[in-house]
Amino acid sequence: MATTGIRGDEDLRKWSDEVRRLAVERDAVILAHNYQIPEIQDVADHVGDSLALSRIAAASSAATIVFAGVYFMAETAKILAPEKTVLIPEPRAGCSLADSIDADQLRQWKSEHPGAVVVAYVNTSAQVKAETDLCCTSANAVEIVAGIPSDKKVLFLPDQFLGAHVQRTTKRKNMHIWMGECHVHAGISPQELRAKAEAAPESELFVHPECGCATPALWLSGTGDLPAERTHVLSTGGMLDRARTTQARSVLVATETGMLHQLRRANPSIKWEPVNAKAECVYMKMTTPEVLLNCLREGTTEVVVDREIASRARRAVEAMISVGASSSVGE
Ligand code: 13P
Ligand code: SF4
Repeated sequence: MATTGIRGDEDLRKWSDEVRRLAVERDAVILAHNYQIPEIQDVADHVGDSLALSRIAAASSAATIVFAGVYFMAETAKILAPEKTVLIPEPRAGCSLADSIDADQLRQWKSEHPGAVVVAYVNTSAQVKAETDLCCTSANAVEIVAGIPSDKKVLFLPDQFLGAHVQRTTKRKNMHIWMGECHVHAGISPQELRAKAEAAPESELFVHPECGCATPALWLSGTGDLPAERTHVLSTGGMLDRARTTQARSVLVATETGMLHQLRRANPSIKWEPVNAKAECVYMKMTTPEVLLNCLREGTTEVVVDREIASRARRAVEAMISVGASSSVGE
């Protein structure tokens, strides 16, 4: 667990006041992903999933966007809002999934499947997005692929588990999937999910589609090994929507543990439990209170995306934010 450097409520209040003061001074909006540490989520203007935060970045009237998340997210904000200053508090905050394919590998893959429609998850670099026809997030991947004419071959990248979930849901035969994975989500196993579900027969199960357990979870719910009516495959924003409406008294959550903070806030009467308490993304936890404060004080680090790459990537990213219902955002 990341150390915050904050000791006690008084420290927290002073830090939070200073962050808010500097944000006003810079005309900055602070966006935080659902996996950030609680202190960062609580001080941000908006907390959400990658789709919701991309939409907010595109629509914001602030001069500066401070993106408390990982690099591809801040880069996506810059692609959507090229005239704004986009700052990432910790530029080393990468993503193992985004690193699983580069633009050369994608060009090679495309050359093996001429005419195929390329669908890339938002967890990719700007260079990969520039080689892509349509971007998606976990919240709208199924809708995006379902909207592609059925006679068109689809190349889906880079997450194999999300790809398998989309293929299963759309029943699409002509879809090729890149074998990438997120080390955090791949580490949440079907065995673990099954054991926890058996030990808590009343609980609902919220499963992020990037998880190693997501596809087996669907299969197991089909075979009756997991309760189909209690198993829900959801983006982080989708989990928040369901948190507000479910009648369940307890929920097992298969995703990065930072998500539990928003879920507990959204519905404190539910007992929220992680399927794997060790499922922490080190990259997401790099944005500590000190790092955020320094970003606002110094105006670092500015995200720069090559203009030509950005304009080629923009079509695919704009298509992404135009598809799918909006998911829950915390303030
Ligand atoms: P969401 O799109 O659900 O926010 O997930 C982003 C991500 O990085 C998952 O690990
Ligand atoms: Fe990337 Fe996985 Fe971290 Fe999400 S949880 S940012 S996919 S490494």
